[in-house]
Amino acid sequence: MFDKNQVIPVGSDHGGFELKEYLIQKLSTKGYRLKDYGTSSIVSVDYPDFIHPIAKAVNIGMFDFGIILCGSGQGASMTANKYPNVRAALCWDLEQAKLTRLHNNANIIALPGRFVDFETATKMVDIFLNTDFEGGRHKNRIDKIPVSE
Ligand code: RB5
Repeated sequence: MFDKNQVIPVGSDHGGFELKEYLIQKLSTKGYRLKDYGTSSIVSVDYPDFIHPIAKAVNIGMFDFGIILCGSGQGASMTANKYPNVRAALCWDLEQAKLTRLHNNANIIALPGRFVDFETATKMVDIFLNTDFEGGRHKNRIDKIPVSE
């Protein structure tokens, strides 16, 4: 069960900047503790520079969950999923946010800042953080995700 005292890192490139700022503001008023990993403006930047630090931190267990954004969510999720202990899920609606926790035990939600409305994105994060992994057959499946080369 998610504990609201936990700090959640959130980071984006310029494509996700506006939604990141909105989420930090909205989720803070709901009692979540967010740590902003940048970027800090709409000036064009390279998303891996902002996503790697969050994925690394989740990978080594500094945080249980993370929130990452870029314009499409694709580059952010590709970057984060390079880490063996990260399961980053690109989500665009409420059902995806719920299912990826129930079935994939995703620990990072990747949001497409240019393709979701901000209110839905806020609800998606809320659902993501407050849905527990089902385990059972889904545990067997996520255990088969890593490659050993
Ligand atoms: C930036 O224009 C855009 O390419 C980036 O935010 C993201 O969508 C990449 O996957």
